[in-house]
Amino acid sequence: MLAGRDLHGLRLLWRLFRANSRNRTAAWLIVLFAAVVAATEPVLPALMKHVLDVGFTARRDFPLWAVPAVLLGLFTVRGLAWLASQFLTQWLTQNVLARVRELVYGQIVSAQLAALQRESASSLIGASVYEAQLALGMIFPGLLTLVRDSLTLLALFAYLLWVNWSLTLLTLAILLPLILTMRQISRRAKRLNVQMQKAAEDTSYALEEGMLAAPVIRVHNAQRTFTRRFDAINQRLRRTTVKTLVSGSSTTPVSQWLSALAVSVVIVFAMWQSDITGQHSVGGFVAFITAMMMTLSPLRRVADIVQPMVRALSSLERLRGIVDAPPELDSGTHRVDRARGELEFDDVGVTLVGMDRPVLDGVSLRVHAGESLAIVGPSGAGKTTLMRLVPRLLEPTQGRLLLDGVPLRDWDLHNLREQIAYVGQDVVLLNDSVGANVSFGEPVHADRAWAALDAAALGDFVRSLPGGLQAPIGHNGSQLSGGQRQRLSIARALYRNAPLLILDEATSALDAESERLVQQAIDRLMRGRTTIVIAHRLATIAHCDRIAVLDAGRLIELGTQAELLQKDGLYAQLHRMQFQLAASPPQSAGADQDCAHAANRSSSAST
Ligand SMILES: Nc1ncnc2c1ncn2[C@@H]1O[C@H](COP(=O)(O)OP(=O)(O)OP(=O)(O)O)[C@@H](O)[C@H]1O
Ligand SMILES: [Mg+2]
Repeated sequence: MLAGRDLHGLRLLWRLFRANSRNRTAAWLIVLFAAVVAATEPVLPALMKHVLDVGFTARRDFPLWAVPAVLLGLFTVRGLAWLASQFLTQWLTQNVLARVRELVYGQIVSAQLAALQRESASSLIGASVYEAQLALGMIFPGLLTLVRDSLTLLALFAYLLWVNWSLTLLTLAILLPLILTMRQISRRAKRLNVQMQKAAEDTSYALEEGMLAAPVIRVHNAQRTFTRRFDAINQRLRRTTVKTLVSGSSTTPVSQWLSALAVSVVIVFAMWQSDITGQHSVGGFVAFITAMMMTLSPLRRVADIVQPMVRALSSLERLRGIVDAPPELDSGTHRVDRARGELEFDDVGVTLVGMDRPVLDGVSLRVHAGESLAIVGPSGAGKTTLMRLVPRLLEPTQGRLLLDGVPLRDWDLHNLREQIAYVGQDVVLLNDSVGANVSFGEPVHADRAWAALDAAALGDFVRSLPGGLQAPIGHNGSQLSGGQRQRLSIARALYRNAPLLILDEATSALDAESERLVQQAIDRLMRGRTTIVIAHRLATIAHCDRIAVLDAGRLIELGTQAELLQKDGLYAQLHRMQFQLAASPPQSAGADQDCAHAANRSSSAST
């Protein structure tokens, strides 16, 4: 019944449950209260027996007020125990769910990125959290039902056996086949219902198709064929509908008839029994029948709850993919206050899982401390991938990287990342204040933040916002323009003041004027630190010491701008293309001209 998948789900559930010791206490209390509920169950028929047997005779041994007192007392205890078990179950469920969200978020911020991305992170995380909510919302209350109803059944059957064991066994012998028959009937009804729906769909599809094909049918004189074809479908719908409806309505009389059979057998047996034993207790018989009836609904609930619970367990499987994603490799111990910033790529290759062609292939490159290096190349060449290796967002599958001569793997991960300021290609902003976005997780130092904002040519804009550094910027910076967003993420990198600065298309969304301002700021910042700039617009990298050209994952050219132009390879080709485009007369005024200006400006600035 439980497949391997479900067992995994069960193990995960156990892990989540065990995470908090109070869960265990709650579980024991739930069982305790469920047992109280179950124990009160046979009290009702027992009371009934006593009331019927002696209450209506001269032998009555209790005052009248005792009846409501005992009944109300009983239901008070039962109700309170019921509520307590219900409350504790919800408490436990929500506790475990909070732990699920905590685990998932923990994985988002600290698991190996590659492992998460394989699972196509965001949608899956959303789905798994939502699914976990549904599944756990099913499993814990299901367990409660299971425990409570099993105990109830136990209590009721114990009572039944005690009252009249032979009658109990006989009734069971009748009841079990009856229940099985009823299940069979309802299964058949369900199956028929599916058939009926299918036939109804077929019919409406045939109608729709006929409508679509109406002209073609006429042109082809195919009326007769199509009518015949439709008739077959139509008749099938009629037949299955009649069958379904009849079988549905037959369940009630059939079940009543079967119950009548059972009850009459039980009554006859009971009367025969009292004839030969000479004990006539109406109360005993009524109590017996009542208790027997009381077993029916817990029986049905227990039978119905198992399957959905197994299904819920197996849907926890998806969650396991995230929860079990391996943590980042962090075994290095090398720590320094501030790295010199010499970065070496040593025969680095990256092959992503499930891809036959490597994204990066044998890239060897040494960036000297304090040097500025530009990386250019066609889209998809692997530039971003190469840069993601530096803060170890991705691990190379071949070769290694060294910072200050120490392999990245030997660096303490936290310390390594302290050496790096990274402006990614995709701007990521928090739904928080400008200040929080600049300091990103660190406490905000106003002076440093303003300096970074000014350097990123965003200071004046932020000063104009109500609240300044405290001004909120909306979901992922929705209240900012594309260029402002980009400048904010540059300010964030500048704020870090790290020896290694990586800019991946950091100025692509800026207009010529702010690009010039940001460029000047970056130029200033480059002094004393190693900078790697990725850019498509070659004008923005003219000031870099050297240029590396990447194509299809390979480093194909490396040198100063003059050297590369002289070499007349891919760089020279890209260069020619961009500057010819820029120099050609604009077809529509605007962007091209900006480009030309920017190009002129920065090439004159660099000479
Ligand atoms: N997570 C990923 N899964 C599958 N393929 C990927 C993944 N990330 C990158 N790639 C592939 O790796 C190659 C290099 O991507 P990369 O982002 O490094 O290119 P790029 O040089 O930065 O391009 P662009 O200039 O467009 O930003 C691309 O062909 C891309 O399809
Ligand atoms: Mg890229």
